[in-house]
Amino acid sequence: MKDLTKTVPIASDHGGFPMKQFLIQKLHDSGWEVIDYGTESEESVDYPDFIHPLSKDINSGKFPFGIILCGSGNGAQMTANKYPNVRAALCWNTEQAALTRMHNDANIISLPGRFVDFEEAWSMVKAFLQTPFEGGRHQQRVDKISKTF
Ligand code: RB5
Repeated sequence: MKDLTKTVPIASDHGGFPMKQFLIQKLHDSGWEVIDYGTESEESVDYPDFIHPLSKDINSGKFPFGIILCGSGNGAQMTANKYPNVRAALCWNTEQAALTRMHNDANIISLPGRFVDFEEAWSMVKAFLQTPFEGGRHQQRVDKISKTF
């Protein structure tokens, strides 16, 4: 039986593939079980084909947190945020990765695979997975995200 609190799904397109492979190794080395939703190489693909399946599994509550990547992190984040229970945050540094957990209760981190250092990406993932949501006034704000006017 998998410990789903220590299991993290990850998905990328070709632009995020090298960083995805690096992060999978780091996560394994740190005791995480990783579910790899692809892609499997640097051959050009369409990022929604890989980001949708992972986002569905965060949306349904199957996993608490997920990691997505594309070249810029933007297309992956836009795809994931189509799901009502997903809050996907595009992060560029470790402080942002911690803050989006503390303030936004983000459940997916989106990484720009072509624009940040791999060690910085690993630092972001660790901060994201280890930082709790602060709740309080931030819960009130998060509750308002899905309200449209
Ligand atoms: C692929 O070239 C690139 O467009 C993609 O990885 C991503 O950056 C899209 O937002």
